[in-house]
Amino acid sequence: NKAMTDEVEDGGTVISSLSGDSGDNGEEDMATTESQDGKQEHKEEAVAHSNEQKEVETCAPEPKEPPVKTPSQPTVFIPVDRLPEIQEARLKLPVLAEEQVIMEAVRENPCVVLCGQTGSGKTTQMPQFLYEAGYASGGGIIGITEPRRVAAVSMSHRVAMEMNLPPQVVSYQIRYEGNVTSDTKIKFMTDGVLLKEIQKDFLLQHYSVVIIDEAHERSVYTDILIGLLSRIVPLRNKKGLPMKLIIMSATLRVEDFTENTKLFPSPPPVIKVDARQFPVSVHFNKRTPLDDYTGEIFHKTCKIHRMLPPGGILVFLTGQAEVHTGDEDRLAEMGDYEYNGSDLELDDDGEDNDEKADPSIPLYVLPLYSLLAPEQQAMVFRPPPPGTRLCVVATNVAETSLTIPGVKYVVDCGRVKKRHYDRVTGVSSFLVSWTSQASANQRAGRAGRTEPGHCYRLYSSAVFGDFSEFSEAEITRRPVEDLLLQMKDLNIDKVVNFPFPTAPSAEALMAAEQLLVSLGALKEPPRTARVQDMKRAKICCPITPLGRAMASFPVAPRYAKMLALGKQQDCLPYVIAVVAAMTVREIFEDLERPAASEEESSKLAENKARLMQMRRVWAGQGPSLQLGDLMVLMGAVGACEYAGCTPNFCEQNGLRYKAMLEIRRLRGQLTNAVNAVCSEVGVFVDSKMAPPTENQTPLLDDTVFIHPSSALFKKPPEFVVYQEVMETTKMYMRVVSAVESEWIPQLLPQYCHFGPPLETPTPWLCPSTGTIKCLSTSTFYRVAWQLPAVERA
Ligand code: CDP
Ligand code: MG
Repeated sequence: NKAMTDEVEDGGTVISSLSGDSGDNGEEDMATTESQDGKQEHKEEAVAHSNEQKEVETCAPEPKEPPVKTPSQPTVFIPVDRLPEIQEARLKLPVLAEEQVIMEAVRENPCVVLCGQTGSGKTTQMPQFLYEAGYASGGGIIGITEPRRVAAVSMSHRVAMEMNLPPQVVSYQIRYEGNVTSDTKIKFMTDGVLLKEIQKDFLLQHYSVVIIDEAHERSVYTDILIGLLSRIVPLRNKKGLPMKLIIMSATLRVEDFTENTKLFPSPPPVIKVDARQFPVSVHFNKRTPLDDYTGEIFHKTCKIHRMLPPGGILVFLTGQAEVHTGDEDRLAEMGDYEYNGSDLELDDDGEDNDEKADPSIPLYVLPLYSLLAPEQQAMVFRPPPPGTRLCVVATNVAETSLTIPGVKYVVDCGRVKKRHYDRVTGVSSFLVSWTSQASANQRAGRAGRTEPGHCYRLYSSAVFGDFSEFSEAEITRRPVEDLLLQMKDLNIDKVVNFPFPTAPSAEALMAAEQLLVSLGALKEPPRTARVQDMKRAKICCPITPLGRAMASFPVAPRYAKMLALGKQQDCLPYVIAVVAAMTVREIFEDLERPAASEEESSKLAENKARLMQMRRVWAGQGPSLQLGDLMVLMGAVGACEYAGCTPNFCEQNGLRYKAMLEIRRLRGQLTNAVNAVCSEVGVFVDSKMAPPTENQTPLLDDTVFIHPSSALFKKPPEFVVYQEVMETTKMYMRVVSAVESEWIPQLLPQYCHFGPPLETPTPWLCPSTGTIKCLSTSTFYRVAWQLPAVERA
C-alpha cells in the first residue's frame, strides 16, 4: 500500500476534468444518509463494528470519546503569547492581511476554499487564526492534513514554535508516530491517518475544523477525504455539532472542488490571497538536453555559483538517485569547476544590483527528498554556514509543501518521476516524463520568495509549450483496490456514486472490485450477474467479514489476505515479516546508483560487489536458494532483528537501516492489527472460494524476466510467483519465489492444460492458455486459500 506507507514524490499541480455522471445523487449510497431505509442500519453496523475492534493502529493515545467538558477537566483556552520577532515576521505574510475576510467566510460557510501561493502562510497561519477565533476551545480540535509525512511533522513544530505552545498542544500524528495528547488543540496529520479515523468515527466528533492542505496536489487520500467531508460536514451541522471544512490550495485551479455539484451542491466561497511574490525571470535553454540532463544541471548550477550574485540555489531533479549523484560527490567538486564551453546559456544580465559573485566562497550543498532522515531534512531550513552559498538539490517535495528560505535561483530539469500502472497487465513502472506547466511555474516561483529571482529551465520554450497545462489527479493513474476496500468498509457500497473530485475510471473500479471479490474481501455477485450486469448495477458487492478484517490491516489488500492466511495457517510471524518487508520495499542498499565520475564508478563497483556478495549470503542462506526472494526477505528481517537492528549491522550487511526500522515498526503494528481482529483462529473458514470465472487475474502476453537482483536469477526454477512486474529496460518480475510444479494442477486447475504436452514455450512466456510459467502472486494467494493446510515455513 504505497500511498499509506510512502510519500509519493510526484506532487505537482494536478487537475483533470470533472467526472461526468453528475445526474446521480451522490448521497444515495453514503453510509451517512439517514433518511433512507436500511442505510441507517449499515451505519450502525459500521459503528458497532468499529467499537468492537480493539485499537489496531499504533496511534498515539487518543481519547475514545469526543472530549466533553467536565468540571474536573475544563477546556481551557491558552492565550497565544508570541515572541515579538515571530509576530513581526507573521505580519509580513500575505494571509495575515486577509485574516478578517477569511475568518468571516469561515464563520458564515460550512466549507471554504483558500488559495494562495506557496509561502503565503496558509499552512502555518490558518490553524492559528482558527485557534484564536476559539475553534479549539469548545471541546473540538483543529485538524489539518498533509499529503506528506515530512510536512505534517515539520509544520507542527513550526506552528508550536510560532505560538509558543508545547507539543502536547500543537501535535502531529503520522503513521507510526505522533505526540498527540488529551490536551492537543491543533493536530497535523497525514491524510491517511484522518481516513483511518473516519473509519472509527464517521462524524469525526473530536474535530471542530478539518483543514485539507495541499489540495492542489490531488493525492488520492486528499481527494477521498474531500468527498467524505463534503457529506460529514452537513451531517454534523444537522446534528447540532457544528463543523467546518477548509480546503487549501497553492493554485487557483480549484474547479474540481467548487464546480462539482455532486460534491458541493452549493459552491463554497473561494478566497484568494495575493502572494507577495517577487518577479522571477525565466530563462529557457535554447536546446533541450535529452540524455545527460543531470550532468547539464550540475554545470549550470556551477555556472550560477561562479557568475551570479549571492543567493541560494534550488535545484529540481526527479528522484533520490539523481539527487544523490549531486550530493557530496559531484556538486562538492564545483569549487574547482572550470567552465569551458559555450553551450550553456546563462544570461548575465548585469542586473539590479552591483553585487557580484564571489567564486571563492564554497557551495554548501544539501539534498532534500522524502526518504531522507528528518534531521537531515531539517538542515535546509537553517541558514547555511557563514561565508557559504546554500544549494539544495531536491525532488519535488520542495515544489509546494516546504519553503526553503533564501532561494534566489531555481534550476529546473523540467521532469518528474511518476509511477505508472497498467490496469490491464498490472505492470507498474517508474517513468521520468515532462512535468506540467503548472508545476514548472510552481518551481520557478520558489525563486521569488524574498527578492527578485531567476529560474533556469533546462529545456526550450517550445518544449515548455508542449507540456500539459496541469498534471492528472493521482486517482486516475493508480490501482484503486486499497481505496475501494476502505470505502466498502465505510459501507459505501456503490462506489461509482461517491462524490469524487475526479472519479477513477469505471474500468479501474471494476478491476479492483474483481480482485477484492477473488480475495474474498467482497461478497461474490450473484452467479447470474455477468460482467455487463455488474457494470450496470454499478459495482456494489458488499464487504465480507474477511474484508473488514483486511481493511483494518494497514497494507495492500493482497498482503492483507496473506496476513489472514498466515493467521489461519498458524505461521503469522513469518508472514508478517515477509509482508512488512514487501511493503517497505528496497531493504537492500541501492546497487544501481549512477556514478558521477570514473573514480566514483570504480568505488561504486567495488561497493556493489560487496553488496552483491552480501545479497548472495542472504540468498544462499537456508532455503532461499531454492525458494527465492521471500525467503531472502525473511532471512534478512530475522537476522537483523536478532542482531538488535543496529545501524552498524545494517551497514555491514548491505541493508538499508531506515527500511529495517520501518519494517520493525510495521511488524509491531501488523501483529497488533491481526491479533485484534482475528483473536480466534479459523474466523475466516466459512468463506468459500468461488470457482474460477472468466475474468481472472490478468496474465501477460509479453515475455517477462527474473530481475537480476533476485536470488533465483542465476538458477531460475520452472515455476514462480512474483510480487510485481516492473518495466525498466525489460519486463522484470520483482520478488520472485519458486513454486513446485505439483502445486499447480492442485491449486490452479483453471490454468493447466491437461492433455498432450504443448510445444515448449519460451522461458517465462505467459500465454493466456496452456502452460503457465509464471503467475502473479494475487492468483497464487487466491488459490492458496483453497488449501486444507499449508506446511509451516
Ligand atoms: O502554506 P504556505 O505555503 O502558504 O506557507 P507556510 O508554509 O505557512 O509558510 C509561511 C512562511 O513561514 C514562509 O515564508 C516560510 O518561509 C516560513 N516558514 C519557516 O520559516 N520555517 C518553517 N519551518 C515553515 C515556514
Ligand atoms: Mg503550505
